[in-house]
Amino acid sequence: MKISQNEFDLFRRLIQEKCGIYLDNSKAYLLENRFARLITETGCKNFGDLYFMIKNTSRSKKLVNKMIEAVTTKETLWFRDQYPYKALVDIIFPNYIKANQISNINIWSAGCSTGQEPYSIAITTHEFCKTMAEGLNFQKRISIIGTDISEGAIEHAQIGEYDDIAIHRGLSTTRLNKYLYKNGKKWQVNDAIKKMIHFEYLNLLELPPRFGPFDIVFIRNVMIYFSDELKRKILKNIASVLNKGGYLFLGTGETVQGYSNQFDYLKHAGGIFFQLK
Ligand SMILES: C[S@@+](CC[C@H](N)C(=O)[O-])C[C@H]1O[C@@H](n2cnc3c(N)ncnc32)[C@H](O)[C@@H]1O
Repeated sequence: MKISQNEFDLFRRLIQEKCGIYLDNSKAYLLENRFARLITETGCKNFGDLYFMIKNTSRSKKLVNKMIEAVTTKETLWFRDQYPYKALVDIIFPNYIKANQISNINIWSAGCSTGQEPYSIAITTHEFCKTMAEGLNFQKRISIIGTDISEGAIEHAQIGEYDDIAIHRGLSTTRLNKYLYKNGKKWQVNDAIKKMIHFEYLNLLELPPRFGPFDIVFIRNVMIYFSDELKRKILKNIASVLNKGGYLFLGTGETVQGYSNQFDYLKHAGGIFFQLK
């Protein structure tokens, strides 16, 4: 079904207001494709009807969630780009050990989609700890939270069950056999790794009061969908929940430059990450 310019403008504003995702004019096809099912499901005749239903009926909250499910891109993989995980093992964890930091190390995977990112962090932590005499104590101090605006993605992450296609995107056979087990046609993350992560619904536009503080934040391939103004705001919010000297990982090709001057640049294993000044 075709979307008119007027309908597109209404949805564009609504989507940006609810989840921050900014759609330029070239993305009309995206709404036509992704909202097709929602239009059929709701019995709406066109995009205008759907907009009216979302804005004006008691089903509004549910429909907004469905709209967010449809519009978010949840593309993700295990150990994406590798360098963040190398940086944890080669630089960040050893720094905490050298500094004799005894408090907990809190890691936030923001926009974690179906969980591959926080599970990769958990596996990395587990493997790092296995190499140390005091590993178990260090692992106990690491706490990982994975959050996303998509309720479907968070539910999937919590269950921790993946099909063959998802499994073959970044996970080595050795790790697959070590940390997941076959459950029917799917693969299930084992309890030891699952226990290391807490998953929660969270909209980055509405950080709850008293959220954090964190030592390490992954917000990778999330802000690429946001306007420049929103990137500035989100980076400011992240800086406010990061401890001084805390680390920030963005997606490859994403940067703080032009959006925040609160971070220093660090390079490792072919990638760039950031440290709060
Ligand atoms: C492309 S995925 C990135 C997943 C993972 N971080 C990675 O790099 O592989 C982007 C995720 O950001 C989430 N997202 C988009 N807008 C959000 C918002 N306002 N609050 C929280 N999560 C959001 C989407 O639901 C999606 O799961």
